[in-house]
Amino acid sequence: MIETKDTGLRGVQVADTKISAVDGEKGKLIYRGYDIETLAKNSTFEETVYLMLYETLPTRKELEIFKETLASERHLPVGIIRHMKKRKKTARPMDVLQSVIPMLADFDDTVLANTKGAQIKTSIKLIAKMPTIVAYWDRIRKDLEIRKPDETFGAAANFLYMLNGKMPDVQTAKDFDTCLVLHAEHSFNASTFAARVVASTRAHMYACTGAALAALSGELHGGANTAVMKMLFEIDKTERAGKWINSKLDAGERIMGMGHAVYKTWDPRAKILSGISEQLAKRTGNTKWYELSRKIETVVREELKKRKGKEIYPNVDFYSPSIYCVMGIDPDLFTPVFAISRISGWCAHIIEEKFAEAQPKAVIYRPEAEYVGRYCGLEGCMYMPLEKRE
Ligand SMILES: CC(C)(COP(=O)(O)OP(=O)(O)OC[C@H]1O[C@@H](n2cnc3c(N)ncnc32)[C@H](O)[C@@H]1OP(=O)(O)O)[C@@H](O)C(=O)NCCC(=O)NCCS
Repeated sequence: MIETKDTGLRGVQVADTKISAVDGEKGKLIYRGYDIETLAKNSTFEETVYLMLYETLPTRKELEIFKETLASERHLPVGIIRHMKKRKKTARPMDVLQSVIPMLADFDDTVLANTKGAQIKTSIKLIAKMPTIVAYWDRIRKDLEIRKPDETFGAAANFLYMLNGKMPDVQTAKDFDTCLVLHAEHSFNASTFAARVVASTRAHMYACTGAALAALSGELHGGANTAVMKMLFEIDKTERAGKWINSKLDAGERIMGMGHAVYKTWDPRAKILSGISEQLAKRTGNTKWYELSRKIETVVREELKKRKGKEIYPNVDFYSPSIYCVMGIDPDLFTPVFAISRISGWCAHIIEEKFAEAQPKAVIYRPEAEYVGRYCGLEGCMYMPLEKRE
């Protein structure tokens, strides 16, 4: 028996993968062989999704066709929109997303088709429709008319258009597109692992995605970006940052958006996001959230170095809030926005898990646990009938 208790499986390899590689020491992230910094600079979200699903970069023609196919799948079935309109307006966007996604299976005739081609088709539907669910829900809960997807816009511009009701400027759409590229994939993190565990049971793709969304919603994973914005709102002014951070650290609390289970240096995505945040702040004149984030980063790094003797760096969730806030995205949508990108990585992993491309054979995940509960010998404890129990 290999014991990995209390490690959260850190350092344990559970499968082979061809999708991405993370080098935590060097601060490198690679999607199917391509460095994330190169992709952020040169690629688009649609091209990155193609790379995830088809394992190679597309030709110009292939990309054109793929973009058209993705755009044509953005609409939601009327039944789903009707359901969303009946929900309580206070429902949390991640809960709406997590419950609506499995409903899409009702409208997919090939949901149980067990071929790679069918799974890619379902992936395209999921990747195309998820942003529509998020944008529609935000408008429905605010009693605003929904903005139907526009097939002539790219994925990033179309999302901001459906959400805010107006076309973003070219640079804002490009920045948001880069954010989507950066969030698309990150190896065996909690949500991806959850998706793969469910995929290993041969459940369908919508079920696997529901599990991944549940895992992403927690604040130690995708929920960290919303928690960072809450912190920014609470601190509000740079001169209050030192006192606020120290009181949290004194109370043994964690500062959201800082530190990483794998990166022991700069998370390459955080570095790019901090640059986008700075440029966006300069361009729009709304510098408050970028400057406050920078101040918090400095204080947390200095304090944790003093207190723990360790360098702790910002992670992917630290600078995205200051970007999304300026783009007019509400804080409780930050994690769903993470999901509309990460769905591409999840789909690639679900396919890899189901079709056992990278590992020698597909096996259902089944770790063990040491039983440390009540024990009364092999016969079991004496069962006292209910009426005799005081
Ligand atoms: C992501 C996270 C869970 C990784 O934790 P980890 O694997 O224990 O990280 P490390 O081993 O590098 O931590 C080293 C020390 O710094 C502390 N530390 C790490 N991140 C911290 C943070 N954000 N705030 C305060 N202290 C932190 C740890 O508690 C640990 O202290 P210890 O040695 O006394 O136990 C942790 O950094 C965290 O909770 N961050 C905030 C949540 C977040 O942003 N999540 C999104 C991740 S993408």
